[in-house]
Amino acid sequence: MPNWNRSSILVRRTVGYSIAAALVCTGVSLLFLFVVGSKDADMARDRATGAWDRTVPLIREGYLPSMLPAGRDIAIQVLNTQGQVVASTPQLAHKPPMATFRAPSASVHAERVLCPPAGLKDCMTVFSYKVYQPDGPWLLYIAVPTVPWFGNTAALSFAIGMSLLATAMTAAGTFHVVKRDMTAVDAIRTELAEITATHLHRRVPVACDNQEEINLLAGTVNDTLDRLEGAYKQLRQFTSDASHDLRSPLTAMRTQLEDALMHPDDTDWPRMAGAVLTGVDRLQAIVTDLLTLARLDARAPLDLSATDLGRLVGEELDRHDYRMRIVRDLRRNVFVDCDPLRITRLLVNLLDNAERHATSLITVSVRADGPTATLEVLDDGAGIAPEHRERVFDRFTRLDASRDRDSGGTGLGLAIAREIAEAHHGTLTIQDSEKGARFVLRLPVREAPQTSGRSSHGTGHAGLFSFPVIR
Ligand SMILES: Nc1ncnc2c1ncn2[C@@H]1O[C@H](COP(=O)(O)OP(=O)(O)O)[C@@H](O)[C@H]1O
Ligand SMILES: [Mg+2]
Repeated sequence: MPNWNRSSILVRRTVGYSIAAALVCTGVSLLFLFVVGSKDADMARDRATGAWDRTVPLIREGYLPSMLPAGRDIAIQVLNTQGQVVASTPQLAHKPPMATFRAPSASVHAERVLCPPAGLKDCMTVFSYKVYQPDGPWLLYIAVPTVPWFGNTAALSFAIGMSLLATAMTAAGTFHVVKRDMTAVDAIRTELAEITATHLHRRVPVACDNQEEINLLAGTVNDTLDRLEGAYKQLRQFTSDASHDLRSPLTAMRTQLEDALMHPDDTDWPRMAGAVLTGVDRLQAIVTDLLTLARLDARAPLDLSATDLGRLVGEELDRHDYRMRIVRDLRRNVFVDCDPLRITRLLVNLLDNAERHATSLITVSVRADGPTATLEVLDDGAGIAPEHRERVFDRFTRLDASRDRDSGGTGLGLAIAREIAEAHHGTLTIQDSEKGARFVLRLPVREAPQTSGRSSHGTGHAGLFSFPVIR
């Protein structure tokens, strides 16, 4: 079936550019013809002046022959004071005066177009000169062919021919270029239409050279497909990891229950219920983390308030008992715009990991580095090798050393923490340290609020956190 949209673009472009070319050519041709016309008119006037130059001395000196020499397309008549023709070129021999007008009294020269002058054919421009003689003014008529506004037919044919050629070349060129571009765009469209979730590895064709814009379009489409394919692979991986992590505790619980039902009398039911509850806890933890991630992915709005970061962290540390010693170095008056609940969640995730991996000590610090507020959680455990420092932020990533499911982690804690940092326009990274893992959260600092505001994390008691305290 013909593609009418495509055809109409092709036709519209071709006709549009051709009309534009025709208009430009017409303008240029008119200019050219006017120049040629005025040049030819000047030449005709020069010829008349030349004839005047040759004839007047003959009249003045009394050597005027009755038959003047013939000139190309030029006719001359000399009339005496009585208006009788005393000399003429051969085509006007024995003919009456070609014209009757004469220059007004103040002037010696006049000019008119006569169609035709008496005794001649075709329109001619007739020049009338007064030649003063002792017996009174004589009249000299000189007729030359009238020059049209376009000069001559050769110039006109040339202008029309060149205009037609230029317009035809523009039409052909436009048709060719647009058709080539449309073909390339069609190829991209066809390929895109065929790419579905199952063919995400396919890419649209990049056209041949000198189609820069089309190539840019194809490149951008391919880049987008690269990103889509990456995101789709991640999603598939995430779904498979999530299913696997949900299935493991479910399978364990099912086996325990089936065993118990097969041997009800030999089963220690309270112990069995405790074991099943552990599995349920794990399922609940995974589902809760998944829901948190889904909300962060959906960019759920943050409940932002001006918060003293050191104070917020101090309050969270006060709220729990930790198995490790915690060293605090929490600077006062480091204010950020944040959702306190989310930042607390991020801190809890980092502290939870640190507690599991530390040997004996965790250091938590807050300070301002210029325009950045920095929160660090450092432990004295085995640390994380540089090559794994990005990977651990991926969902369900657990390094081999902590594969043990009983460690209680869902593998989503760091992914959630990083999403929270990014939702606050901040970063969460792992930095070098002498010993153990050093997690660094950076958030943009804001000015201290004018009033203590609604937040319980305002400036009050900030001095409490100015010095390192060991618990
Ligand atoms: N403080 C730390 N020291 C060493 N390794 C860590 C530390 N924190 C996180 N990791 C590694 O990063 C992985 C991902 O952490 P996380 O996303 O919180 O998942 P989980 O804690 O559930 O295992 C952990 O399994 C662990 O291997
Ligand atoms: Mg964790």
